[in-house]
Amino acid sequence: MNSYKIAVIAGDGIGPEVLAEGIKVLKAIEELDGNIHFEFTHFPWGCQYYLKHGKMMDDDGLEKLKAYDAIYLGAVGFPGVPDHISLWDLLLKIRKGFDQYVNLRPVQLLEGAPCPLKDVKREDINMIVIRENSEGEYAGAGDWLFKGKPEEVVLQTGVFSRKGTERIIRYAFELARKEKKTLTSISKGNALNYSMVFWDEVFVEVGKQYPDVQTYSYLVDAAAMFFVKQPQRFQIVVTSNLFGDILTDLGAAIAGGMGLAAGANINPERKYPSMFEPVHGSAPDIAGKAIANPLAAIWSVSQLLDFFGHSTWGKEVLNAIESVLVEAKNLTPDMGGKAKTSAVGDAVVAVLSKKS
Ligand code: NAI
Ligand code: MG
Repeated sequence: MNSYKIAVIAGDGIGPEVLAEGIKVLKAIEELDGNIHFEFTHFPWGCQYYLKHGKMMDDDGLEKLKAYDAIYLGAVGFPGVPDHISLWDLLLKIRKGFDQYVNLRPVQLLEGAPCPLKDVKREDINMIVIRENSEGEYAGAGDWLFKGKPEEVVLQTGVFSRKGTERIIRYAFELARKEKKTLTSISKGNALNYSMVFWDEVFVEVGKQYPDVQTYSYLVDAAAMFFVKQPQRFQIVVTSNLFGDILTDLGAAIAGGMGLAAGANINPERKYPSMFEPVHGSAPDIAGKAIANPLAAIWSVSQLLDFFGHSTWGKEVLNAIESVLVEAKNLTPDMGGKAKTSAVGDAVVAVLSKKS
């Protein structure tokens, strides 16, 4: 029996609504497989918790989470608590504390998913973006001098360590080799004359150990254009924290929208639990109405299954999402349907059950 302990942080707004459907899918798989067992522990952390206790999570929160095999997170942030508090005191605390230095975001246009691009075929959008998740432009390094004075100066420093740069690029090469795909590095060496020149050098250096992997290197502005014009250029993509943040939102936009975008925060050494989450936020505008699209949260479940080595199930979940999209009978309003959140989860489970 493969047994997994999952820490569930449903969080705020639509977080609990969409995670309920992801958990529904995992429970269905447990039943269908017979050899997989999930044990869920719910943690009530988030903005409500903050308003009551003055903190986003328990002081020993990371200590508590350490005991789990993975974290399944909904969304964090709600009006009434400043976004930088909810982000830094929960989400980033976990990402940094658990050294989840790989942010893995699939950008794949499933059949039936809406795409705003006119001249692009569905199979042309099929990439995995690997975003550096621990340092770079989001290291939080800098200074704010002479605040409010005429000579005011702010510094925001990008931090690119050899260890941090090498390990993310190596991770990307390993994945490209394993999947027999091309690898594209996206940087900006012409303008960022220290950090990105260094990035490009490390990319070439590490690449020497992977002569079997075909590589490309793009400037980020050109890459943004090609994401829209010729997304078929990209298979595996590796890029920095900031560029990855922006490009994956663009990626989400061309591959069905926020309701379909999933992301995994991975600690490849498995020293700490990895975290799986939909990319979208807590959507306060539709929270409590039971119309949130749970497909992104369910896609995260597919990533979680892949991570545990159950990639057959991971693929099944993705196929089931695709069937539900093609059938178009159980879709939420953001996808042009009228279904409730739970009906979408039920539909995914129905497809999985029929196949097994
Ligand atoms: P958002 O992703 O919550 O919402 C943007 C728009 O997309 C809204 O119109 C929303 O209704 C829609 N939307 C998002 N997810 C959807 C879904 N599953 N189904 C249907 N429609 C969906 O981003 P926003 O409004 O900028 O942020 C709201 C809060 O969420 C903020 O407090 C923000 O800090 C937080 N946030 C948290 C994230 C996380 O926990 N990883 C990521 C992004 C934002
Ligand atoms: Mg973002």
